Amino acid sequence: MNKIGVIFDLDGVIVDTAKYHFLAWKDLADHLGFEFTEAHNELLKGVSRVRSLEILLDIGNIELSEEKKQEYLVSKNDHYLEYIYKMGPEEILPGANELLNTLDALGIPYVLGSASKNAPLILKQVGLFNRFAGIVDGNSVSKAKPDPEVFLIGAQKLHLLPEQCVVFEDAIAGVEAANRAHMISVGIGDAKTLHEADFNFNSLTEIPDNFIEMLMRKTAEIQ
Ligand code: G6P
Ligand code: MG
Repeated sequence: MNKIGVIFDLDGVIVDTAKYHFLAWKDLADHLGFEFTEAHNELLKGVSRVRSLEILLDIGNIELSEEKKQEYLVSKNDHYLEYIYKMGPEEILPGANELLNTLDALGIPYVLGSASKNAPLILKQVGLFNRFAGIVDGNSVSKAKPDPEVFLIGAQKLHLLPEQCVVFEDAIAGVEAANRAHMISVGIGDAKTLHEADFNFNSLTEIPDNFIEMLMRKTAEIQ
């Protein structure tokens, strides 16, 4: 068996914070006077906060000064944090705890690789912060997904080669980033949307018991 490590995206894989991002962005869109739908919200998944605002303003066909943009980035995040501070362990997505337990039992290290600057806070809120061997978040990267930077830093934290890393992702940009990093990509969510992933599951609960051991054998064959 070969040594492998795992890199988890946060939003949409470990917890469902997309609904809180939606409420906070929708509030801003309401304030600016245009409609922002759940379908629009899909475009913001895996995308940085700054880029999310740009996409939102494009949807509303609105141009703002840099100063106003900064103001809205702060107010949106303040609003979002009101929801985050109410989160608890009950918001961990089904199958996540079980998967972390499996990795612990197999001695496989795992780190976080998220675009969110709020990732450490969210992990603390749901009681998972101390389980991760390392955290790469929106504060530690200069290039957003689909750039592979976030996952390559994750591989360094795992002391592993990219080819030995398995990435769990729910966003198209995240799967692309993992593939560009030459890692094994596992898409969590709609298989059609995430068709570029090496493996697909609708949710973490669908991952077979022997999946991780199968990946260990697979990476051993490659190297
Ligand atoms: C994740 C989410 C995105 C979000 C980004 C930044 O990748 O999927 O929807 O925009 O994090 O989150 P932040 O907490 O820094 O605003
Ligand atoms: Mg995500």
